[in-house]
Amino acid sequence: MNFRLKIWRQPNANTPGKLTDYEVRDISPNTSFLEMLDILNERLLERGEEPIAFDSDCREGICGTCALTVNGEAHGPDHPGAVCELYMRKFSDGATIIIEPFRVGAFPIVKDLVIDRSALDRIVQAGGFISARAGSAPEANSILIPKHNADLAMEAAACIGCGACAAACPNGSAMLFTAAKVSHLSFLPQGHPERESRVLKMVRVMDAEGFGNCTNTYECEAVCPAEISASFIAKLNREYARAALQRSAGE
Ligand code: SF4
Ligand code: FES
Repeated sequence: MNFRLKIWRQPNANTPGKLTDYEVRDISPNTSFLEMLDILNERLLERGEEPIAFDSDCREGICGTCALTVNGEAHGPDHPGAVCELYMRKFSDGATIIIEPFRVGAFPIVKDLVIDRSALDRIVQAGGFISARAGSAPEANSILIPKHNADLAMEAAACIGCGACAAACPNGSAMLFTAAKVSHLSFLPQGHPERESRVLKMVRVMDAEGFGNCTNTYECEAVCPAEISASFIAKLNREYARAALQRSAGE
């Protein structure tokens, strides 16, 4: 298969970038999207040109490192899945493919397709640790957790922290990410001692990092590779209101 690529090139955060044209030829349909970029980079290096900078690690949808917008869609056209799980057979032979970094004010561009998503780390960091003793695995029946709650906690914990939700949102909102991180602990008794302070601190940092607010466009849910439901945003709002009321009642 042959493709025409338009790839965002930007030397650093302070220099303007632009889409640059490339052609890749003789690509197997079973080549992954990131392998196709590897092949292009090998050919650029052979010609003595600067390779395209992009992020990846696990390349199996687990780590959340890959962060590309493909033809205007965060993670590309094969939902649900991260861009590392996308294969070239998803595109027509001869297609033009536009590849850009996630466009979010809180994710500054480092170089080419590499962005700085440490704002998400700072939201998690603000949540702090849980004070429950980790120790060895307790007897399964010593803390009874309703199955429904355990399932919801596991669903929320599936978030891989890729940031696609913020990239797809017209407001650049990280509400789905924050909702997943707040929810997976709030459904479990081990997360309850710091339940109120956690949500208040995480939302405060989310706002301070410059993410927008949720206006229910559901774009986040549509691109999320972990299929995190937008209903967790409602859970986040309830957790926040509960914590704010308790704090004001206690003051
Ligand atoms: S909620 Fe989904 S899209 Fe957002 S960071 Fe987590 S896995 Fe990525
Ligand atoms: S490289 Fe790990 S999720 Fe894509």
